[in-house]
Amino acid sequence: MSQERASWQIKDEATIDELITLMNLSAEEKTLMHSLVGPATEVAPEMTNAFYERLFHHQHTAEYLEGVSMERLHSMVAQWFIELFSGTYDQDYARRRMAIGQIHVRIGLPVRYPLAMLDVVMPFGEAIARQSSQPEESVNAFRKVLALDVAIFNQAYEDNQLRHLAELVGGERLARRLLSGSG
Ligand code: HEM
Repeated sequence: MSQERASWQIKDEATIDELITLMNLSAEEKTLMHSLVGPATEVAPEMTNAFYERLFHHQHTAEYLEGVSMERLHSMVAQWFIELFSGTYDQDYARRRMAIGQIHVRIGLPVRYPLAMLDVVMPFGEAIARQSSQPEESVNAFRKVLALDVAIFNQAYEDNQLRHLAELVGGERLARRLLSGSG
């Protein structure tokens, strides 16, 4: 891996502009998403129940929830879900989503668990999108916004690993080379 890549310059909140461009999220798709905020708010408690049922069912994920206020978590995850439908995906949005990712980095949660939770989130979101007068376009828009979120969440993990490794080895370029397995 000898070549410098332009993507290496894109960090933190800047990833949102890049990803929105990459995914071609249109103004119409943002409007469609925003039109579904009401149904999303109604469905959010049911989604969070299913979400935590799944996490409590598995010993390795349940362990992280011991001693945590479940009332607070239910409301934070509900808010996270409703915000997917906000229709505004700007730098503030990215900053909030990135901060959520960072909280999970700090509790030492392997990234595979949040990623696996898409299995719970996706069907709820798609069912809401299908209630729209333009169901197909809305489902596509929902998938894009969710993929955007996953990318940001994951970026929080990658930024953290890269930052620490770069500090340790004295430079980001070398850290990237090591992470690519070619160092
Ligand atoms: C789609 C995946 C996930 C989303 C969207 C999500 C969302 C959130 C949000 C919004 C918060 C509140 C953050 C804040 O305080 O501002 C939170 C906290 C937390 N999440 Fe998740 N979460 C996800 C997956 C998981 C998984 C798989 C676990 C593991 C069991 C988990 C465990 C926790 C814990 C323990 C906290 C509390 C952290 C603390 O306050 O110290 N989350 N999550």
